[in-house]
Amino acid sequence: MQIRIFTDENAAASVLAHDIARQLARTRHLVLGLPTGRTPIPLYREVVRLHRAGRADFSRAVTFNLDEFLGLPGSDPHSYRAFMQRHLFDHVNLSRRRIHFLDGNARDTARECLRYERAIDRAGGIDLQILGLGANGHIGFNEPARALAARTHVARLRGATRRANAALFGGRLAQVPHEALSMGMATILYARRIVMVATGASKARCVARMIEGPVTPRIPASFLQLHRHAEVWLDRGAAAALRRRRSPNFQ
Ligand code: GLP
Repeated sequence: MQIRIFTDENAAASVLAHDIARQLARTRHLVLGLPTGRTPIPLYREVVRLHRAGRADFSRAVTFNLDEFLGLPGSDPHSYRAFMQRHLFDHVNLSRRRIHFLDGNARDTARECLRYERAIDRAGGIDLQILGLGANGHIGFNEPARALAARTHVARLRGATRRANAALFGGRLAQVPHEALSMGMATILYARRIVMVATGASKARCVARMIEGPVTPRIPASFLQLHRHAEVWLDRGAAAALRRRRSPNFQ
């Protein structure tokens, strides 16, 4: 894994936004995998700023979001789809048909998961997957477990994860769904390039386990160690617990 440490989250967001803008200019039909959460908000803000300055053209890009709450239609203001509309989609030139989202309201979830896998395949796979890090080591909604699901699936959310997502529901924990649809570990690891962004001291312990610990389903993000082109972008707070030079993964 390639580790990059920035002074703060805005510096990381700015460099990544410019990186995405360059890829958009270079690659026709760039396929982006996108996360939700607090972490990517500065990134989306910067991407929107570049778009407004005429430096990020999404007209031919395609996006796939990582996950969605089960039982919420995309029109629900608490859904991840609504989050993406607010922070990115409403502000850039990305047509609706190029935006791909898991339908949290699907009746047949197995079919919905298969539909998503096929759509990713048809798009030619994901070129750049951006990820956030759950404080318990999850990516997407692949929660710590004895075994992980390879493909897009229905995920049961842990208490800590529901609490971490409560802010989206105005702090009302009872309203946070217990299940979600999520890309699986293989779906994520098949992306050609992965950039995991983790910021803030609250992620430091988990970041160290992800990079310096063994590959284990107890820390799903540790599977990124198996990827040929995975980068971890940190601010100083999130990098604080790394032993650095002693880590074989540190470049
Ligand atoms: C949620 C999402 C993840 C995200 C994580 C981290 O649970 N399902 O995809 O990476 O939260 O969120 P934050 O960036 O707010 O710390």
